[in-house]
Amino acid sequence: MAKKKLVVLSGAGVSAESGFSTFRDNDGLWDRYDPQDVATPEGWQRNPKYVLDFYNGLREQLRDAKPNQAHRIIAELEKDYEVTVITQNVDNLHERAGSTRIIHLHGEATKVRPEVGVYEQSGSEREVFDIGYDKIEIGDKAPNGKQLRPHIVWFGEAVPKIEAAIDEVAKADIFVIVGTSLTVYPAAGLYRYVGPKVPIYIIDPQSVAIHDNRTTHIREVATEGMNSLRKILENG
Ligand code: APR
Repeated sequence: MAKKKLVVLSGAGVSAESGFSTFRDNDGLWDRYDPQDVATPEGWQRNPKYVLDFYNGLREQLRDAKPNQAHRIIAELEKDYEVTVITQNVDNLHERAGSTRIIHLHGEATKVRPEVGVYEQSGSEREVFDIGYDKIEIGDKAPNGKQLRPHIVWFGEAVPKIEAAIDEVAKADIFVIVGTSLTVYPAAGLYRYVGPKVPIYIIDPQSVAIHDNRTTHIREVATEGMNSLRKILENG
């Protein structure tokens, strides 16, 4: 019997209990940094060192961070479901918890690429390099001679993996949204591709933006909410 397809859309809230600030909660990352400065091509052109330092700091924090119980439960669901994780997060905590099918819509903090290369034209990742938790500085060049930049989708840039994500959501038997304010498109519009009879579970301690008859809001933090969801799924 083929396993049912369970698709998870995660956001910053799933990593909050691993010590990462979300973006838009009180004292969120965008209260401390202007996204125009660290998450746009214009910010990069204006002050690339400031941008590199921002992501070097994130990589440093990631080195010492650990996946939490929510990441682990999502990975453990692979025992009973064909799980695809579509994440807006650039951290590697889903990977480190053991998830094996992950689509990073907004890029990955541990990866870098030339500031001008084949990626922009074709989304080809052949010039994308994994540097783990190392720093990159001004003067660090890719093999094509261009300055290395974070492999992150900045505001205003294309989201090459959105089509793959839509395909996954359209095939889901169960759709789970955990820890995202659903404010940034196209990720925020993915739930619209869920089949009409497919249950949607939203895990978030705050109020949520989706209200319809197939949606269940589990108003808990991610670790508790994923535990509650696992119980709901076990009881069929
Ligand atoms: N458990 C679950 N959810 C939580 C927790 C928690 N412990 N703490 C906060 N949340 C919820 C918040 O209520 C909010 O709905 O997580 C969500 C975080 O929303 P945002 O800070 O907007 O983060 P996210 O939705 O991931 O942002 C999307 O915006 O800036 C861009 O590229 C960036 O990927 C990011 C995108």
